[in-house]
Amino acid sequence: MSEVVKLERHDVIAIVTVDSPPVNALSAAVRGGIFECMKTAIADPEVKAIVLTCGGRTFIAGADITEFGKPPKPPGLAEVLVLMENSPKPIVAAIHGTALGGGLEVALACHYRVAVKEARLGLPEVKLGLLPGAGGTQRLPRAVGPELAVKMIVGGDPISAAEALKNGLIEEIVEGPASGGEAFARKLVSEKRPLRRLRDDDSKLAAAKADISIFTNAVAAMTKKARGLEAPFAAADAVRAAIELPFDEGLKKEREGFLKLVSSDQSKAQRYAFFAEREASKIAGVPDGTKPRKVDRVAIIGAGTMGGGIAMSFANAGIPVTLIETTDEALKRGMGIMQKNWEATAARGGIPADAPAKRMALIDGKVGLENVKDADLVIEAVFETMAVKKEVFGKLDQFAKPGAVLASNTSYLNIDEIAKETKRPQDVLGMHFFSPANVMKLCEIVRADKTAPDALSTAVAISRKIAKVPAVVGVCDGFVGNRMLAQRGKQSEKLLFEGALPQQVDAVVTKFGMPMGPFAMSDLAGLDIGWRSRKDRGIKSEIADALCEAGRFGQKTGKGYYKYEGGSRSPLSDPDVEKVIDETLQKLGKKRRTVSDEEILERMMYPMINEGARILEEGIAARPSDIDVIWLYGYGWPIYRGGPMFWADSVGLKHIADRLSHYAKETNDPSLEPAPLLKRLAAEGKTFASLAEKSKAA
Ligand code: 3HC
Ligand code: NAI
Repeated sequence: MSEVVKLERHDVIAIVTVDSPPVNALSAAVRGGIFECMKTAIADPEVKAIVLTCGGRTFIAGADITEFGKPPKPPGLAEVLVLMENSPKPIVAAIHGTALGGGLEVALACHYRVAVKEARLGLPEVKLGLLPGAGGTQRLPRAVGPELAVKMIVGGDPISAAEALKNGLIEEIVEGPASGGEAFARKLVSEKRPLRRLRDDDSKLAAAKADISIFTNAVAAMTKKARGLEAPFAAADAVRAAIELPFDEGLKKEREGFLKLVSSDQSKAQRYAFFAEREASKIAGVPDGTKPRKVDRVAIIGAGTMGGGIAMSFANAGIPVTLIETTDEALKRGMGIMQKNWEATAARGGIPADAPAKRMALIDGKVGLENVKDADLVIEAVFETMAVKKEVFGKLDQFAKPGAVLASNTSYLNIDEIAKETKRPQDVLGMHFFSPANVMKLCEIVRADKTAPDALSTAVAISRKIAKVPAVVGVCDGFVGNRMLAQRGKQSEKLLFEGALPQQVDAVVTKFGMPMGPFAMSDLAGLDIGWRSRKDRGIKSEIADALCEAGRFGQKTGKGYYKYEGGSRSPLSDPDVEKVIDETLQKLGKKRRTVSDEEILERMMYPMINEGARILEEGIAARPSDIDVIWLYGYGWPIYRGGPMFWADSVGLKHIADRLSHYAKETNDPSLEPAPLLKRLAAEGKTFASLAEKSKAA
C-alpha cells in the first residue's frame, strides 16, 4: 500500500484516505496512491461504493506546484480521473478544509460530493497564471452552470459549502468528512442510485448553448480587473469550449491552454510569488518553535486614516479592538468613517447586511491612553512626528500590560529610538500597514535592535490572521518599500526637468502594469505636504513648487500634475501644467529634450532595484523575495512580473548595472552608480535569486 494513500474496507464501503501533509497536494506519490487504491477497490467484489477523503487539515489543495516545470512523473492526473469517473461503483468525495484546483477536479471526477460546513471549494489556478488542467473547465460548468463556473474559474475565488450545496456542486453538508462520506455512500447503495458522471450531463449548459451572451457577460464581469494577465482569458476560452464542444474535445482544448500557460513567463512569476509570500512568514534568525504570544484584544492609538483602516482589518477578522483618540470629536469622526465604509461595502453586497453592526460592536472607542490596559497588542497610528511618537510610547510603557507587544505604524521613523522611550524595548517593533489599511494586504514588520523573537512572531502570526501578508524588515529611513519608492520619486521629478511630461511618465509606468504612475500618485497624496516640508527644510523643487504656488495641490483641489473634472478621480492631461513646466525650465535656462519611453522605464525601475540591492547588502531585508512581496502587496506591482527583484533577474543584472552606470554619467548623478552587490552579481553573471539568506533582520 502507498505511504500517503490508504485503503480500508468497512464491509461494502471502501474508504480511500489521502494523508500527505501539509495540504495533501497531488504529488506523484499521491496520484499513484489514489490510482492503486481505486483500482483495488473497484476490483474488489465485496465493495459496492467508494469514499475518497483526506487526513490532516484539508482535502486535496491542488496539484503539487513544486512539480511544475519538472519532467512529468506517471501516473498523470488525467489518467487517475478517467479511472475514477469510469468506475462502475459510485465514488463519493468527502471534503473538509479546502478542495482547490486539482483537488476539486478530483472531486468533480467522483460521482457525488459531500462536504463539511466550513469547507471551501474552488479552482484558483488563474492566481498562479494557469487554468485548471484536469477537466475543471469542462466538469465545473456541467456541475454548477457556466455563470458560476466562470466566476470561480476566471476569478479564482473559492465558494463556501453552503453556496456549493445551493448550486449543485455538492449533494449534502455533513458533520465529519469520513463518517459523513461513508453514511452518504451507504445511502447510495441502499437506494441503488445511478452513477452521476458530469461528463455525460449537459443539462446545465443548455441555456448558454442557446444564448452565448450568458457566458460572455459573465466573462466580461470577471475580466474587468485582469489587465495585462493572460490566464483569465485563456481560462475563459476553455470554459467556452465546454459550452460549444463535445466533452472530449473540450478537454483537449483545456489541456492545450494549460500546457501553454504552465511554461509561460507570467505563470512562472505568479508561482514564484506564491512561494515568496509563504517564505516571507518564516522569520530569519528566529528559532524554530518560537511561540507567538496570545492576542485576544488589540488597542489602536489614533482613529485617523490609518488607525481606522487597521481597526477595520482586525474587526473583519473578529478580533476585538479598543480604538483610542485624544478627543470625543476625533473618535466620533473616526468611528463614523468606519461605519460608512462598511455600510458601503454591505450595500454593494460585499459583506452581509448585518456585518457593519456586528463589526462596529467589536470596536470599543475610548479617549485616553490608559485604556490600552487590556490589550495584548497595541498599534500606534498617531501623527508622523518623533516627539509625538515618543510621548505616546512613554505613556504606553506606563499603562500597557506586561508582555503586550507595542507596535508603531510609522512610515519612516526610527523604531530603535521609539523603543528607548520604554523600559521594555524587547516588546517594541514596527507594524507598517499601507493605505487604505483595510484593503492593502502588506504589513512591513520592523524588527528593532532589541525586539524579542516571540514579539516578532506575534506580529507575523497576527498579520496572517487578519489576512495581511507580513514581511520582516530592519530599521532604516522608509524601511524597504518607501525607501525604494523614494528613488523612483527622485527620477520622476528629474525627468520633468529634462523634457518628459507627467502623463508620459505615468503612461510608461501603468503600461508596465503598476496601478498608478508617480504623478497621479502624488496628486492623490496631495502636493502640499511635500511643499510645506521643503519650505521647512529650505529645499526647492521648482516645478512642484510652481504648481503649489498656483494652488494646485492635487486631487483635493481638482488640480495638480493633472486636472480632475466634476469631482472625478480620473486624471486628465492639462496644457497649463506643460506651460508651468516650460516656464520653469526657461527660468532655469534649461532646454526640453525628447525622452524615450524606454529611458523612462529604465529610470523608473532600475534605481529602485539598485536600492533593493543596497537594502539586501545592509541586511534590511532577509531575501530578495521579501522585497518582491513588499512590492506585490504594498504597491500593486503586477503579479505577472513577480516583483522588482524577480523582474530584474529576468532582465539581466549586467544590463541593469550597465544602464545605471550610463545614467549616472549622462545625468551627472553618482547616486545612480550600481550598488556593490549589484555590480558583483552582474560581474559574476549571477541573479538576486542566487543569494543566500543574510540579514540584519535576521
Ligand atoms: N503545492 C505544493 N505546496 C503547497 C501547495 C501546493 N498546491 N499548497 C500549499 N503548499 C505548501 C505551502 O508552500 C506551505 O509550505 P511551507 O509550510 O513549506 O511554506 C504549506 O503547503 C502550507 O501552505 P500555507 O502556508 O498556504 O497554508 P494555509 O493553511 O494558510 O493555506 C491553502 C492552505 C489554502 C491550501 C493554500 O496553501 C493554498 O491556497 N494553496 C494553493 C492552492 C492552489 O493554488 N491549488 C491549485 C494548484 S494548481 C492545480 O491544481 C493545477 C491543476 O488544475 C492541474
Ligand atoms: P491622521 O492624521 O489621519 O491620523 C492620526 C490620528 O491620531 C488623528 O486622528 C489624531 O487625532 C490621532 N492622535 C494624535 N495624537 C494622539 C494621541 N496622543 N493619542 C491618541 N490619538 C492621537 O494620520 P494617518 O495618515 O492615519 O497616519 C498615522 C500614522 O500612520 C503616521 O505615522 C503615518 O506616517 C503612518 N502611515 C500613514 C500612511 C498614509 O498613507 N496615510 C501609510 C502608512 C503609514
